Amino acid sequence: MKIGLLGHGVVGRGVREIIDEGATWEVRELEVKRILVKDEFEMVDPRCTMDFSEILNDPEIEIVVECMGGLEPAHTYAKQALEKGKYIVTSNKKMLAAYCEDLFAAAVANGVTVHYEASCGGGIPWMASLDRTRRVDDIESFRGIFNGTTNYILERMKKEGADFSDVLKAAQELGYAERDPSDDIDGYDVRSKVALSVVKAFDKVVDVSEITTFGIRTIKKEDLAYCAANGRTCKLIGTGTDHGDYVSACVIPMFLKDEDIFSNIPLNFNVIESNSKTLGAAAFVGQGAGSLPTAHAVVQNIIDIWKNQDPEINEKFVKPVDNQTHKGVFYVRTAKQAAFSGLIDRHVSELAFVTKKISLVEAAAAAAAANDETLFIAEVAE
Ligand SMILES: NC(=O)c1ccc[n+]([C@@H]2O[C@H](COP(=O)([O-])OP(=O)(O)OC[C@H]3O[C@@H](n4cnc5c(N)ncnc54)[C@H](OP(=O)(O)O)[C@@H]3O)[C@@H](O)[C@H]2O)c1
Repeated sequence: MKIGLLGHGVVGRGVREIIDEGATWEVRELEVKRILVKDEFEMVDPRCTMDFSEILNDPEIEIVVECMGGLEPAHTYAKQALEKGKYIVTSNKKMLAAYCEDLFAAAVANGVTVHYEASCGGGIPWMASLDRTRRVDDIESFRGIFNGTTNYILERMKKEGADFSDVLKAAQELGYAERDPSDDIDGYDVRSKVALSVVKAFDKVVDVSEITTFGIRTIKKEDLAYCAANGRTCKLIGTGTDHGDYVSACVIPMFLKDEDIFSNIPLNFNVIESNSKTLGAAAFVGQGAGSLPTAHAVVQNIIDIWKNQDPEINEKFVKPVDNQTHKGVFYVRTAKQAAFSGLIDRHVSELAFVTKKISLVEAAAAAAAANDETLFIAEVAE
């Protein structure tokens, strides 16, 4: 089966390496025929081209693997490939979460499918396990530490009593955090992964912008000191719950009990857990990123397509996100407390308080009304 690879960076090179090496008979059935690169100096392999039409118009290429990242031209190239009847495998969560509806419709119209195992959890077999679980059970909910960078930062802040900015700088020096870390620390990377997990777990497509999202950019060591003094550990958590006609979904720092298995996930590891009736809670732990683990997931998708074994059918229902039923107690630190008037249960310091049990919608509305760019909010797990 011949493949056109878009992007020859961390993931793309990993995909090319695994397929070229051909360690198993299944992988030896695959061939990377063309590799799209952007610049002249990247033409390091005779298969490289800077012209996407050489991939698009090659009838031998049945699968286009998109590992370029970003929204455009990744979205346009993926759509054009689907319209030519080619399968898409992508590791690009940001692009797919934003354009799910559009790309799935193009796939259905052209009798092909979009596959995205690597886009969420890297090499952890999270998406594949959802397919397997769903052969027997409906998935009711999931929760996860989906982002290794923020987990690394929170772990080091906790262990060393260090400031956020110092740990972020160290993470950037070690290559764990991007030069522009916004997608990670503001929760947007997790938001895309939550949106794609909703697709896989519940067969539903949501508008990614409806997912309530808080990050850790404003966290201070005093927040973690309060958390630790109460026998808790702070983790950035993404969740989704299926309610039939709607989905609740959010990204929020949570003060988890120390005995929660999620509290002990170290450094840049991920953990993602599904809940379903007969299987109960089933969690998957591992490195959610990296060249070869992520490329492994891409190649698994390709083999599934070749063997016709991936049950992915891109016919999905578009449903709203509604977090009214998500109720909890929230820890908030802000100098602008008027917005939370009537919602505060007790102060824990001059600037920080915990709320009464309120809905996530109320908490998010008050946080927005406070209009305080230093505000930090976390949910205190029951
Ligand atoms: N790295 C991971 O561990 C990991 C894990 C899971 C998912 N992902 C996702 O996988 C995707 C790729 O990540 P990555 O880490 O491999 O990124 P990367 O190292 O930056 O690789 C992307 C490559 O695509 C190239 N590219 C960008 N636009 C292009 C265009 N128009 N035509 C041809 N080539 C183009 C880039 O070239 P330039 O460098 O010249 O721009 C770069 O070589 C992202 O969506 C990422 O979120 C990554």
